[in-house]
Amino acid sequence: MSLVSSTPMLQKARENGYAVVAFKVHGLELLQAVVEAAEETQAPLILQTTVGTVKHLGMHYIVAAAKTAAEQASVPIALHLDHCQDFALIVQCLRAGYTSVMIDASMHPFEENVRRTSQVVEVARALNVNVEAELGKVGGVEDDIVVDEADAMLADPLECEQFVARTGVPTLAPAIGTAHGMYKGEPNIDFDRIAAIARHVSVPLVLHGGSGIPDEQVARCISLGMAKMNVATELKNAFSTSIQQSLMNDPTELDPRKYMALAKEAVKQLAIKKIQLCGAEGKATL
Ligand code: 13P
Repeated sequence: MSLVSSTPMLQKARENGYAVVAFKVHGLELLQAVVEAAEETQAPLILQTTVGTVKHLGMHYIVAAAKTAAEQASVPIALHLDHCQDFALIVQCLRAGYTSVMIDASMHPFEENVRRTSQVVEVARALNVNVEAELGKVGGVEDDIVVDEADAMLADPLECEQFVARTGVPTLAPAIGTAHGMYKGEPNIDFDRIAAIARHVSVPLVLHGGSGIPDEQVARCISLGMAKMNVATELKNAFSTSIQQSLMNDPTELDPRKYMALAKEAVKQLAIKKIQLCGAEGKATL
């Protein structure tokens, strides 16, 4: 199979009450690990990269690796560009082969967010790929995007309805109290707000800040309409902690294939758990 748009994948998830997990990948081993997890659980998969990773690896390397994975896999795979504020880079990534992009204009006033999102929706529609946009402001740190707790802002359900109607955006990430990075305590999720947004908006909703949300709260978010969950920090931590541990256990073992194999396995096991938690296991053929 080639890389697919994530729109139908996510619509099916919302209709059927589960969420597709979008894993942030920073390199080949991380990518392979989550693909193996999706294969083993027969789950649809979204591979996600930040703008920082596009700069680090190069979009053509990322697309080539993702395409190879999709061709060899028996499950549908989409490739998503996360939190991009730069229209030119979005167009370049789409031309290179990304099948989903997030235009993050959440730091702008509502009208400007509508304008910037509509511009991307128009391009994406012509290419038959997915677009995600954010309303409100998700707090925390995501690459270069830092949103202070005091500046984080929850999405308004009526604005969500207007936003989707005016932009035609096929997936929406409303800020509902989660944050990027690990939580210091428990996240302060506004479940009533998710329910209200889901009543006003029928497109799939995206849960940002998936790392560290207690399992039962993830399940509740999904039951209320969240159809995609982003996981970055936990995956990165599992990978790096495993490498750290390997090198501490045996500082003389400097063959990357040895410690990378263990790190890959750690990521794969974590990814399997997240897929199962989101109810996406066995949904590849839906
Ligand atoms: P975490 O780093 O909290 O998993 O958040 C991921 C995310 O939402 C990326 O957009």
